[in-house]
Amino acid sequence: GNKVSIGLLGLGVVGTGVIKIIKDHQEKLVHQLGSDVQVKSALVRSLDKERDVSLEGTLLTTNPDDILNDPEIDIIVEVMGGIDQTREYILKAFSTKKHVVSANKDLVALHGPELQEAARKNKCDFYYEASVAGGIPILRGITEGLSSDRITKIMGIVNGTTNYILTKMDKEGLSYDVALKQAQELGFAEADPTADVEGLDAARKMAILARLAFSMDVDLEDVKVKGISNISLDDLKYANKLGYTMKLIGNADFKDDKIEVDVQPTMLAKNHPLASVNDEFNAVYVYGDAVGETMFYGPGAGSLPTATAITSDVVSVIKNMLLGVTGSQHLDPHFDKQLKTADK
Ligand code: NDP
Ligand code: HSE
Repeated sequence: GNKVSIGLLGLGVVGTGVIKIIKDHQEKLVHQLGSDVQVKSALVRSLDKERDVSLEGTLLTTNPDDILNDPEIDIIVEVMGGIDQTREYILKAFSTKKHVVSANKDLVALHGPELQEAARKNKCDFYYEASVAGGIPILRGITEGLSSDRITKIMGIVNGTTNYILTKMDKEGLSYDVALKQAQELGFAEADPTADVEGLDAARKMAILARLAFSMDVDLEDVKVKGISNISLDDLKYANKLGYTMKLIGNADFKDDKIEVDVQPTMLAKNHPLASVNDEFNAVYVYGDAVGETMFYGPGAGSLPTATAITSDVVSVIKNMLLGVTGSQHLDPHFDKQLKTADK
């Protein structure tokens, strides 16, 4: 029968999850798509490392060209992280007409428009649902579910690591360092957790959300960011005493054709809907003129939740391939035009 081959760039926390889901849910994939889906090869740094997944049918390599130049591979799943090298690989993938699915918010926040343009020129799909809020289908929520509405406000807990740390400090009295170590062991944190705890990861995700929700570009340098690294157990106790919960909150507002985005620790009244979002869970509040208030809630990090978003992107790509309508992305094709005329 038919077979679609995938090449993974990266086989860590998220990449192993992708292989597991593709194997465990093969029957559902075949039922939807009428073809087998297989991970043919995966790029890694070390061939000797133990992998927490069965590698039957998947070849490991340290040479990216083994994947990027393989004519049998239709879809590249980028789950290795990093910016410059990864950008190069993805541009190369588009130039050889491979579709790309990525979880890399660092890259998309910084080079999203360029990658999008390269995908469009080559009629390739480019999806990155997993880059924001892990397993929550928030990018499709705003770009498809709410495409007819005018979104004016987004507010969210979009970093699992910091929410995990604050929850463990607040509810169990764990120290900041111990809570961070646990978040790292559970696979929620970035390779260098500075981006998590200093709020930069959340800022990147808010920039992506704002770009998609308001169809205007957001310069990361314009995002005001404050992280949680100097929040103490005493601060949390004090907030509690006053009836508040401390959360790292991202805000994106669209007003008078201008976008304002910031990320900062925020005291929320305990009955605020975002105050009860705990551990690595994320939640995104979206306000649209017509729909009113909506809330999206779910796991914001971790292997299988993130891999679910990735694999669902892969399903979208395969459906587009079957229909012959590739060249699809989260953002509408008028984005660039709007970008140029927008009064920033
Ligand atoms: P890991 O560090 O667990 O895995 C990274 C993988 O990429 C490893 O297999 C590593 O190889 C490989 N790799 C890294 N750099 C290179 C390189 N230069 N050349 C070849 N291989 C390389 O990261 P995660 O799986 O946690 O994250 C991957 C991506 O997904 C990141 O962009 C992250 O931000 C994003 N993400 C992560 C989430 C999570 O919950 N963990 C959630 C949402 C997004 P080796 O194994 O040999 O070291
Ligand atoms: N380090 C990120 C987080 C992973 O903790 O939210 C998910 O993007």
